[in-house]
Amino acid sequence: MLRSQASKVVTLLFSGRQRFLQSCLSTHTSPQLRGALEEEQQEQPSKSNNNYPKPEIDPFSLVNEELNTVSERVRLCISTDIPKLSTAANYFFKHGREGKRLRPTVLLLMASALASSSPSPDLCTVVDTSPASVHPNHVRRRQQRIAEITELIHVASLLHDDVLDEASTRRGLTALNQTDAGNKLAILAGDFLLARASVSLASLRTPEVIALMCQCLEHLVMGEVLQMGASPQEAASMEHYLLKTTYKTATLFANGCRSVAVLGDHSQQEVEAAWAYGRHLGLAFQLVDDILDFTGSSAELGKPALNDLRSGLSTAPVLFAAEQRPELLPMMKRRFRGEGDVEAAKVAVESSDGIHRARELAMTHAKGALSALESLPPEKCSHAEEARAALVQLTEQSLNRRK
Ligand code: FPP
Ligand code: MG
Repeated sequence: MLRSQASKVVTLLFSGRQRFLQSCLSTHTSPQLRGALEEEQQEQPSKSNNNYPKPEIDPFSLVNEELNTVSERVRLCISTDIPKLSTAANYFFKHGREGKRLRPTVLLLMASALASSSPSPDLCTVVDTSPASVHPNHVRRRQQRIAEITELIHVASLLHDDVLDEASTRRGLTALNQTDAGNKLAILAGDFLLARASVSLASLRTPEVIALMCQCLEHLVMGEVLQMGASPQEAASMEHYLLKTTYKTATLFANGCRSVAVLGDHSQQEVEAAWAYGRHLGLAFQLVDDILDFTGSSAELGKPALNDLRSGLSTAPVLFAAEQRPELLPMMKRRFRGEGDVEAAKVAVESSDGIHRARELAMTHAKGALSALESLPPEKCSHAEEARAALVQLTEQSLNRRK
């Protein structure tokens, strides 16, 4: 049943993107990217139908209770009796400040999507109060630890990122670096979250998973350095942007999903599919984020709109727009630092098909995520079937979100 549902959503999402794929093939020079796009073009559904019913499962509600136990565990995991450190480390983990918790939601759903039976309610609702250093022996608990670790890594990277970007707000709150904590404590709080995440990761005693999650750290740093150290040519290159985006955003989703599959002792085919789902979802998610920077309001986003342009970044909408509006190129090269550059770039992007093409690329990756789900062997229980339907829904929501 899920298979046909996923196919319908794929068809719904990707009808009419032929023109986009054709334009990508003519504009991208990378043979790798061209190969991938050509393959995707061949996989095009042959007909389009916009009347398919939408799946009705709310992915966040489905794992809500388990997600709350994961959040509670994260708070336990970062407890410390040093008051200043405790306040700073908990800043984005207090109730109501946790944000969407997209990454743990995806990972819990992936754990379920691969499962052969439902986990007992106890495993999903009772908080594991054992210290981070204690090895949990149930598969579901171990997979929950990946969800915790992923969120710890994500928030640590945001604390560091806000210092680097001199950000003023995050999640609708004053950025930690702009509070009494300042830059130094914000960086140290990020380090502390990583330290506690590392202890928890080590407790799993699975070297493959330890390596996967450590690679996330490496990629986050590489992505950030690629972004900040880009030459004018690199800053105007789609390939560079996609590589940076893979490192900064997609790897954490991809390796998190892979780790969950490895801990579940699933087949190589399932491990690869879980990884591919996470990678494509992460890329689609970031492309939408970059579009929202142009189309969203500051109030909706919880951070200033046009933030990327103001930070000197040429994201997908700008890179596509520049093919039609060459006046953007000198602005991109000087990182929009000239007087009136940000406003002029916004006008140029909006009067081009840059946003539309960025959205089509996001849809291509969403389709990749759904294809990865479809490539999974048939689900073994109704719990897995429901979770797969929720991942389909979550993929669609990631495309259509407004914040
Ligand atoms: C948000 O980027 C930031 C990231 C996705 C990762 C940042 C990574 C580092 C700072 C490297 C250090 C890593 C660790 C693990 C400590 P953004 O500025 O594009 O998005 P924003 O608008 O949400 O700030
Ligand atoms: Mg930032």
